[in-house]
Amino acid sequence: MKHLLSIADLTTDSATELLDEAERFEQALLGREVRKLPTLRGRTVMTVFFENSTRTRVSFEVAGKWMSADVINVSASSSSVSKGESLRDTALTLHAAGADALIVRHPASGAAHRIADWTTDADGNGPSVINAGDGTHEHPTQALLDALTLRQRLGSLEGRRIGIVGDILHSRVARSNALLLSMLGAEVVLVAPRTLLPVGVETWPVTVAHSLDAELPGLDAVLMLRVQAERMNGGFFPSAREYSIGYGLSERRLRLLSDDAVVLHPGPMLRGMEIASAVADAPQTAVLQQVTNGVHVRMAVLFRLLVGTEEALA
Ligand code: CP
Repeated sequence: MKHLLSIADLTTDSATELLDEAERFEQALLGREVRKLPTLRGRTVMTVFFENSTRTRVSFEVAGKWMSADVINVSASSSSVSKGESLRDTALTLHAAGADALIVRHPASGAAHRIADWTTDADGNGPSVINAGDGTHEHPTQALLDALTLRQRLGSLEGRRIGIVGDILHSRVARSNALLLSMLGAEVVLVAPRTLLPVGVETWPVTVAHSLDAELPGLDAVLMLRVQAERMNGGFFPSAREYSIGYGLSERRLRLLSDDAVVLHPGPMLRGMEIASAVADAPQTAVLQQVTNGVHVRMAVLFRLLVGTEEALA
């Protein structure tokens, strides 16, 4: 595998191997005072973020540093993008400067694919490109860390019923999770108002429902989504209040879930909007476990793309 741009780049086997590898990295680091493996020594990893991020950028940086890579962070505001340099020229410049991996977040769907096209030559040489979230399209490493968290909490994804709730229309997390979780054997149900479902959702490997109260008792896990107001041009229907009443995970709704059901949220959470503050902090909620898993999953992805499978973990 050269790039990770989409869940379509994975198979059931390769996705499962990445999750296994992430757990091996977790084990390799467990109890170490100095969390430093020599795995990527001499490799240069660049995070190239044209949209804000806390979890994804930081966890890729930590992952790279724990594997001894040289990690360089590039942001739109502090780079020559702010002077009008094109995405293509920026990508080619970072390639020429020695990037072995470009980790890209961009508001335009397909941006990471374009960068991979521009920086990979006819012989397949060039940096590995990882999609760290492109517009409303995909966020594959988020889906991998969510799958790992669910596997750890539920034992297996096979036959599990998982609800993805809320603003599906603007969510790259929803699409990547729907594809990956169903690939790994789960039954995925999207629970959303009709106005926040994308055109073409009938081609996704999911069922669609509109009543959260009706779905919750049958779910093994629920993945709450943030309402992405920044992609809504100033307004959306239903209103924020109606949304919260219809689709927010309140304490009453938490009680509708079975006791061993799991609550996920990719973050950032809007407490009081899609998730009540008490639910965000409840033991069933695995938000911080997701973040920790994000580091190990991103170590596994960097390892797989930059080193391959032949070499044993250091
Ligand atoms: N889940 C996620 O992508 O969070 P950030 O936007 O903070 O990276």
